[in-house]
Amino acid sequence: MTQTSSNISNSTLLPAKAIGTISAISGSKASVLLVAPADAGAAVQDKGPFIGTLLTVDTTTAVVLCLITSLKVPDNSLDDKTARTRVAEVELVGELKRESDGYLRTFTRGVSVYPRLGDDVLEASRTVLEKAYHFGSFSAIEIGNIRQDPTIPAALKVDEMLSKHFAIVGSTGSGKSCTVALVLRTVLASHPNAHMVMLDPHNEYGDCFGDATELINPGNLNLPFWILTFEEIVEILIGNGEAHPDEVDILRDFIPVAKRMFAASQEGAQKTARQPGNGRRSKFTVDVPVPYRMSDLIGLIDAETGRLEMQKDLRPFKKLRARIDSIRRDPRYNFMFANLTLQDDFALLLKRLFRIPVDGKAITVVQLMGLPSEIVNVVVSVLARMAFDLALWSDGRMPVTFVCEEAHRYVPCERCGFRARPEKRRQAGWIALLSGLSLYLLYADARRRRPGHQGVPVFLAAGYEKKPRA
Ligand SMILES: Nc1ncnc2c1ncn2[C@@H]1O[C@H](COP(=O)(O)OP(=O)(O)OP(=O)(O)O)[C@@H](O)[C@H]1O
Ligand SMILES: [Mg+2]
Repeated sequence: MTQTSSNISNSTLLPAKAIGTISAISGSKASVLLVAPADAGAAVQDKGPFIGTLLTVDTTTAVVLCLITSLKVPDNSLDDKTARTRVAEVELVGELKRESDGYLRTFTRGVSVYPRLGDDVLEASRTVLEKAYHFGSFSAIEIGNIRQDPTIPAALKVDEMLSKHFAIVGSTGSGKSCTVALVLRTVLASHPNAHMVMLDPHNEYGDCFGDATELINPGNLNLPFWILTFEEIVEILIGNGEAHPDEVDILRDFIPVAKRMFAASQEGAQKTARQPGNGRRSKFTVDVPVPYRMSDLIGLIDAETGRLEMQKDLRPFKKLRARIDSIRRDPRYNFMFANLTLQDDFALLLKRLFRIPVDGKAITVVQLMGLPSEIVNVVVSVLARMAFDLALWSDGRMPVTFVCEEAHRYVPCERCGFRARPEKRRQAGWIALLSGLSLYLLYADARRRRPGHQGVPVFLAAGYEKKPRA
């Protein structure tokens, strides 16, 4: 049976005239055949529904809320000026459940009873909009007004948003960066002790958050090479490790030795360092983040080169040695290789990056412009890994919001070009749900850059609800 405004118990909630009917429904989507403009209500004639307009369908037990995601005139009616058939594709975003006395409750996600074919569709009335966008007792921040009715505030439920992953997507120039700046500024105003890290590939957020910003750039970043995992140091020193297996083997053999040498020198027992298998130091693997000297690594490579002279192909040793030399001389790599006073300042780095203590600067903006392009992916990977580890080992007690501007560059995606540690980042993404790391993704033109994704040309904040696998 078709629902009309006359059989809605609370008749003041919805405008009198339907603007269309449900013509197809599948999953969480539906098509609405819009009535011809001449037959529609005045409001529709004047403005017409636009993308983002909230529509309603009454299913007796609830008022289902539908958000317009696309509008079209079917091809076969393009020439017929009188017919002008128009179709709106809508997403069934949730519903206002109806109590037995007809009272409508506030918004809940999901739809308990689907609309049926032929059901009337109406534009949401002011009362419905108020209920749909009502934030009740949640801690919420106002970031503006909703477009459909500028008298109704648009608010974000901060705690709910930051306890999940969320994304802002939109086509180029649609206002993603401005939205992020606005959202984060508002969150910071109400949560001055938050811990936020923002990756800023275009250096555009440096002035956005005023005194609350800890600004990190290649000039003041100290990210020692020894905190890199083996895969990451291979990417920097060798590039594509699969193409140069001999050089990878050299690093695999000598990095643990260099680590043992440094630890032994710290303990004043240099002599014993070269003997493998003695106590704690023998447990140093290529991935353990303990300090070692690049000069020790070079010394080991040189010693081996001299020992093997005339016995073996020395090209991998020489190529690796040359690459290490050129990187150490390149000023763009100073943030990683220039620090001559080698000490275990990992804790200081963590404190600075993740604002422990906050000390009035709740957000760290990491400006990536100026970093060698071939190393940006590794730096991002290290920062993401540190955020993940911190959230995991603090058991969620220290929530961190990790904001990725231009996320298509970092999020695992075969076509995105970022090869470094995709598994780690994917793992971080899911496990972080349990451990207090919220990942804030900013996609530019999602449809163009991530084939298979639905492009959304307007502001959209989305939270993943999927639970990680145990
Ligand atoms: N709500 C708004 N109203 C009017 N103009 C806006 C609004 N938000 C952003 N703009 C303007 O739109 C332009 C693009 O904004 P912004 O840089 O945030 O877009 P973007 O989606 O991040 O673009 P890109 O994909 O290139 O990074 C800017 O000039 C900005 O001033
Ligand atoms: Mg932008």
